[in-house]
Amino acid sequence: MINPPYHACESRYDGIMKYQRCGKSGLLLPRLSLGLWHNFGDVNPLANSREMLHFAFDNGITCFDLANNYGPSYGSAEETFGRVMESSFKPYRDEMVITTKAGHDMWPGPYGNWGSRKYLIASLNQSLRRMNLEYVDIFYSHRYDPETPVEETLQALVDIVRQGKALYVGISKWPYEAAQKAYDYLAARDTPCLIYQGRYNMIDRDVEKTGVIDQAAENGVGFTAFSPLAQGILTDRYLNGIPEGSRASVGKFLKPERFTPELLGKLERLNALARDRGQSLAQMSLSWLLKDEKVTSVIIGSSSVNQLRDSLGCLNNLTFTPTELTAIDTILLP
Ligand SMILES: NC(=O)c1ccc[n+]([C@@H]2O[C@H](COP(=O)([O-])OP(=O)(O)OC[C@H]3O[C@@H](n4cnc5c(N)ncnc54)[C@H](OP(=O)(O)O)[C@@H]3O)[C@@H](O)[C@H]2O)c1
Repeated sequence: MINPPYHACESRYDGIMKYQRCGKSGLLLPRLSLGLWHNFGDVNPLANSREMLHFAFDNGITCFDLANNYGPSYGSAEETFGRVMESSFKPYRDEMVITTKAGHDMWPGPYGNWGSRKYLIASLNQSLRRMNLEYVDIFYSHRYDPETPVEETLQALVDIVRQGKALYVGISKWPYEAAQKAYDYLAARDTPCLIYQGRYNMIDRDVEKTGVIDQAAENGVGFTAFSPLAQGILTDRYLNGIPEGSRASVGKFLKPERFTPELLGKLERLNALARDRGQSLAQMSLSWLLKDEKVTSVIIGSSSVNQLRDSLGCLNNLTFTPTELTAIDTILLP
């Protein structure tokens, strides 16, 4: 079937989406970004991926988060995005913030992993070809490489910006001390780090404990949270078993064994709390992150338009009473 031409919704900027300044930069990011780690690969129906991308942009989600190896197969989420770029998004390119990353396993041999200049630059060149883009808005070092001199990784980021292949750079999952080196090195070369990407959700609060959220704010760097629903745990998806086709049913990144009676009991209590707030559990989990102004944007994953619609609804209520916050902590904290 030939797809009808895509016209973005005229009212896409008049809805509930808000845009927040990313650190001390000039760039505004939507409070919710869409991540393409799962459900956009060549194993997934293109029609569903396209529908989710259209729906996101039609509802004010202007930031799309990718990486070289998202799929499966590796590279195929970028190819999917490239196809939608060609068929739908091209006229809107300047309304979008498109990101990619390199740092994890991508191709065989010594040059397809970690943080060398060789890997980062070659990988970004491949990503641009797959996505049909001349440049990405943000290029990330996907993880810190303890074996490569940190200056080599960081200088590659600087040079990527100077070559015009990325407008901004960011770091993901870098430990505290290395992150400080990155902020100092990049700022000294007029390529300030735009953003830090870290795992953050009601269950996993490491970025609070290690101080990397506060550190980003102190350095004028934005912060974006990934896996905000703990890959689907912090939703009502698993309350009645493991649905066919869900991430836990595939079992690679989210194992079914994770859903112990103890965890399910906690999720039931959180679900009741969310209901009292007039929210789904997914919405409450996202609102909990977005209540903090230091969280510039939250990157959601999704397998359907219905999930996306539900998640977007979190933006209707981002405030919590102290009693609600204590109740969440009582349920989740040891
Ligand atoms: N920098 C890094 O190292 C890194 C690491 C991981 C992720 N990320 C980025 O962060 C993005 C998000 O990560 P994530 O996919 O783990 O995020 P997540 O939002 O924690 O989990 C997404 C999953 O939750 C379920 N879900 C989503 N909305 C729902 C709703 N409203 N109701 C019920 N279930 C819902 C879906 O599961 P089903 O698929 O089972 O339906 C969906 O695939 C990634 O796409 C990627 O861009 C970055």
